[in-house]
Amino acid sequence: MIKKGIILSGGMGTRMSPLTKAVNKQLLPIYDKPLIFYPLSILMLAKIKDILIIVNKGQLNQYRKIIPNGDNLGIKITYKEQTYPKGLPDAFILGEKFIGKENVALILGDNFFYGQNLTSQLLNSVKLKKGAKIILHKVNKPELYGVAKINSRNKVTSIKEKPKKFISDLAITGLYFFDNNVVKFAKQLKPSKRNELEIVDLINKYKNNRKLSADLIGRGGAWLDSGSIEDYYKTSAFVSAIENRQGFKIACLEEIALNNKWINKSKIQNAIKFYGNCEYSNYLKML
Ligand code: TTP
Repeated sequence: MIKKGIILSGGMGTRMSPLTKAVNKQLLPIYDKPLIFYPLSILMLAKIKDILIIVNKGQLNQYRKIIPNGDNLGIKITYKEQTYPKGLPDAFILGEKFIGKENVALILGDNFFYGQNLTSQLLNSVKLKKGAKIILHKVNKPELYGVAKINSRNKVTSIKEKPKKFISDLAITGLYFFDNNVVKFAKQLKPSKRNELEIVDLINKYKNNRKLSADLIGRGGAWLDSGSIEDYYKTSAFVSAIENRQGFKIACLEEIALNNKWINKSKIQNAIKFYGNCEYSNYLKML
């Protein structure tokens, strides 16, 4: 069982400048809540309670304002600062102490997942004991993504970053599950031409040992990565459409904690006081 998770919530957010000059991307809104709520909700749905959030140097105070610690959610939040964006595998170097001897999940702070069987899929993925698992989603323009080709047993047979020639239309999403070797493997990586540690190089180490499997998000599920302004507004529009149609909120952290029986109603009262008079609090009152 994977009981620990890391959210990589730093980055320069260059594509979204000037919005990201003063405020980190993950603190900007996706419709009615900060972006960071969405990946955090995914780890919570996977029943992961011990969470490391990696933020940019100098941003800790801002994060603590919105997610002080895990108390009100019945989870444990640890923060760690990254001095500069060294690449996604840096999560496992910075997180070495946090990970200890255990297996770990990683989610990128700007990734949004939604769908019918998502929770059961997540609960299945955290069962990982050995090797690594990536989550794939079919896309229209594979040349823009890192993609993976899989065999009939869902083993990954090849991986390619932004392929010019078609190999697969299954994009590698920003949600990964690793055994404890990930720390050792991350430390072995050398920076690429763009001077970053590359996640593709990291998962290739598992693939080369035939230890990399994949799970597909089917057509009932959505994966959106909010890296550009256009993506950002599309994700907001998606959340707005679902929430206003159904009356349910996506990524209401307190609701997930309550459903998981990690908190009781008195913590919901605390949360209502914390957020103040707003629509999010009104929703909490209905729980
Ligand atoms: P990217 O999309 O690679 O980078 P970015 O979000 O800073 O955006 P841009 O390319 O416009 O500059 O990062 C994906 C996610 O991972 C994002 O949520 C930021 C986070 N991240 C870190 O926290 N540390 C890192 O070293 C890197 C590379 C990314």
